[in-house]
Amino acid sequence: ATVRYEAETSPAVCAGAIESNWAGYSGSGFCNGDNGTGGYAQFTVTASAAGTATLKVRFANGTTSARAANIVVNGTTAGTASFEGTGAWSTWATKTLTVPLRSGSNTVRLAPTTSGGLPNIDYADVETSGSDPQPTG
Ligand code: GCU
Ligand code: CA
Repeated sequence: ATVRYEAETSPAVCAGAIESNWAGYSGSGFCNGDNGTGGYAQFTVTASAAGTATLKVRFANGTTSARAANIVVNGTTAGTASFEGTGAWSTWATKTLTVPLRSGSNTVRLAPTTSGGLPNIDYADVETSGSDPQPTG
């Protein structure tokens, strides 16, 4: 199943400010992370079984420089991502990432690795590979 996790909705954490001044976001806003390596966005993602999940991260980067991040799953770096310029802060794009999840609750942090910080982050759509619980009886 695919579940949408909004960056502005707890238990997601935005190390920066939740803002809504650029159009086109989903939900009530987006995470504008602080412009530095401390400006992360973190999602809490639930999986019904351990396995590989696909994260589709919606973002906007109104600069002409890509912004790089580590993908940190449950405290361990599991990969990297580069969020290229989208042409405008109000133009949103989707970056597809693959992450290993354990059964139950997981934290997935987009942790920027350069002084520019993250792009603005709208949400993550998470597709888990485990099947949904089936009715019994
Ligand atoms: C601008 C823009 C912000 C963005 C920031 C950045 O200030 O309005 O939404 O987060 O640039 O460079 O990260
Ligand atoms: Ca920012």
